[in-house]
Amino acid sequence: MSSDHSIPPGGTIGILGGGQLGRMTALAAAQLGYRVHIFTPEQDSPASHVSDGVTIAAYEDEAALDRFARQVDVVTLEFENIPASPVRFLSERVPVRPGPRVLEIAQDRLAEKRFFNELGIKTAPWREVKSAGDLEAAFGEIGAPCVLKTARLGYDGKGQAKITSAADLAGAWAGLGTNLGILEGFISFDCEVSALVARGLDGSWAAWDVVQNVHTNHILDTTSAPALLSQPVLDQAVAIAHRAAEALDLVGVLAVEMFLTRDGRLLVNEMAPRPHNSGHWTIDACLTSQFEQVVRAVCGLPLGTPKRHSDAVMTNLIGDMAEAWESYLHEPNAKLHLYGKAERRQGRKMGHVTRLYPLGRRPHS
Ligand SMILES: Nc1ncnc2c1ncn2[C@@H]1O[C@H](COP(=O)(O)OP(=O)(O)O)[C@@H](O)[C@H]1O
Ligand SMILES: [Mg+2]
Repeated sequence: MSSDHSIPPGGTIGILGGGQLGRMTALAAAQLGYRVHIFTPEQDSPASHVSDGVTIAAYEDEAALDRFARQVDVVTLEFENIPASPVRFLSERVPVRPGPRVLEIAQDRLAEKRFFNELGIKTAPWREVKSAGDLEAAFGEIGAPCVLKTARLGYDGKGQAKITSAADLAGAWAGLGTNLGILEGFISFDCEVSALVARGLDGSWAAWDVVQNVHTNHILDTTSAPALLSQPVLDQAVAIAHRAAEALDLVGVLAVEMFLTRDGRLLVNEMAPRPHNSGHWTIDACLTSQFEQVVRAVCGLPLGTPKRHSDAVMTNLIGDMAEAWESYLHEPNAKLHLYGKAERRQGRKMGHVTRLYPLGRRPHS
């Protein structure tokens, strides 16, 4: 259903996925008077703790999907590694925003790179890799250093291997665990930034300030808002994200991660058509958070102003870091967010803390 109708407060938003992004979306939805129903294969998911309804079933379970579709007014998703066919199945029954086409592009690094390059937007050099032979040929063209990634289902650096010489090739290919990969030139970047935009049902759009991200072990460590870069670079980053959102006919929010090269060029790394970890700071530092905005967008409400009222540094609490929760509560400018995950694992995102500063006064990292 590609219906263009809006859903007033009182309606029910269905969310595919039960992680922290769904949880924070559900909290924002409740604030605007909506109910939320989560669909996830996972027991005891973070989003289910704060939602009215939860369906625990496999994404391929059509009977469960059909029941879910009858219980909700609109469907959105909180992560993009959901198989496309259930999303298509749902979209024949209820509006799904963003729709299945957006998902198909965003969940495949090859399709994603093609999408940006066809728009004339630059990325790292890349090659499709389907065999050890392909990898060798691609390495010959791209050269070292480079990084081999699974085309699908990667997140937080999973499914990636850095290659610094030809001696790494066989091990990287064997370790990939699939036979569809992408080889990317490794960008020696000055910094990483992301641009986050929202697009409403009526095509209106809004952008938050561009932010600077630091990854450690391929996992986002901190996001600093705003990015302290020249205005032309900031404008270009927003223009890239807006251009992509338009080309996707996206309804919702879109995060685009980019590298700023040492010679001042922006190269797109990847995108996510949903609230993004690098947008968590917007909860505490902006008039409208990314989570409230996605609710507004998918329900066809007017978008809110993304204006930043404070500078912010968001730090992810990964694994053991969340054990220090009490110390964050003693910091007067820190806002603590915990995701309610019972099981602590190494590398698992357990929460985040956002430290707020007066405008123009965030520490330079
Ligand atoms: N081609 C690249 N050049 C330089 N660094 C990279 C490259 N690809 C990935 N990285 C580093 O690894 C991080 C995670 O990779 P990314 O492709 O965003 O995967 P994920 O889906 O796991 O977030 C990036 O934010 C960046 O720090
Ligand atoms: Mg990433």
